[in-house]
Amino acid sequence: MTTAKQGRVLVVGGFGAVGATVTAALEGWFPGRVLPGGRSRGVRVDVGDPEGFGRVLDGLGDVAAAVLCVEPPGPGAARACLERGVHLVDVGATPRLLDGVAALHGDAVRAGATAVLSVGLAPGLTNLLAARAHEEVGGADRIALTVLLGTGERHGGDSVRWTVDGLAASPSGARPARFPLPGYGTRTAYPFPFSDQYTLRAGLGVPDVTTRLCLDSRALTAALFGARRAGLGRAARHPAVRRALTGAFGAVHVGGEGFAVRADAWRGGRHAVHALTGRAQSRVTALVAARAARAALTGTLPPGVHHVERLPVLAGLPEELAADGALTLHRPAPAGER
Ligand SMILES: NC(=O)c1ccc[n+]([C@@H]2O[C@H](COP(=O)([O-])OP(=O)(O)OC[C@H]3O[C@@H](n4cnc5c(N)ncnc54)[C@H](OP(=O)(O)O)[C@@H]3O)[C@@H](O)[C@H]2O)c1
Repeated sequence: MTTAKQGRVLVVGGFGAVGATVTAALEGWFPGRVLPGGRSRGVRVDVGDPEGFGRVLDGLGDVAAAVLCVEPPGPGAARACLERGVHLVDVGATPRLLDGVAALHGDAVRAGATAVLSVGLAPGLTNLLAARAHEEVGGADRIALTVLLGTGERHGGDSVRWTVDGLAASPSGARPARFPLPGYGTRTAYPFPFSDQYTLRAGLGVPDVTTRLCLDSRALTAALFGARRAGLGRAARHPAVRRALTGAFGAVHVGGEGFAVRADAWRGGRHAVHALTGRAQSRVTALVAARAARAALTGTLPPGVHHVERLPVLAGLPEELAADGALTLHRPAPAGER
């Protein structure tokens, strides 16, 4: 097997909204070693066909790392990478899929490969801010993550599919909550099935973690989650409704491209808050993924499957991205609902 330093990087979904920026960033650091792919362009790969995916890796012969910028239906593509000693960075945000990859930890350690999960904005930067707030209160008993997304951004098709799946998922039982978000005022955000809340419960040992979503447009947020309460979620499990919603989401661009993330942690009377804001969540997700892949390629990560907040080398990602102008870090005064 070629050493990680010499091998190439396969960016699966490398022409998508996230993947194109991953490809460009990695090409800047590793010129001539980046291979964008997908079902219809570049290296032809289909993450829904793990055997075929493995054959592509074998055929290329010198892939040191793969970045998955599309959600596969199961852990087969990840297994194909890790059992070959190929490092993996996965931007996926679906808890069931990430758990499937996490179960491959032993295989990854045996093969000397690293997988980085929870990569992007949410999960990703949310995990890192949550871990900071958790540490600051001396081990939280409760964490709340709030994500605001811009409705003006042209989200990729696979992101829109994920969002519609999230609306269709059974509600978690957590309540909406109001928090101030830097630059956006105090917003009502609604529980949404981002993977970070599930993996952080186990990873940080915090029993109560909830992630909530709102959109930059207050009117759209109210309409969307009002409709969910009225049964849209159940209806969205029907394929025709899902197709209609996916089309509508892809077409609505009423707000801006900004996003905001806030992490609150509490322990007894202690309360710590970290927040960040920026523009173009697909781009920022890609910059996180590219940095994780760079760390894997330069051999600075331990073998095994790890969520991003477990990797000290990546703990400074928010500051790195802030220094590059991709986002702004904030320390809001602890306030808002307990
Ligand atoms: N962690 C986070 O914060 C975060 C944030 C944003 C997005 N995401 C995730 O990032 C992923 C990509 O989102 P996006 O907005 O970039 O989507 P996108 O623009 O639709 O890009 C997906 C790309 O993947 C390729 N693709 C689709 N199905 C494939 C398959 N079965 N095998 C191989 N390639 C396939 C597509 O090209 P072909 O059609 O040619 O195959 C397309 O170029 C989504 O899963 C989304 O949930 C995560």
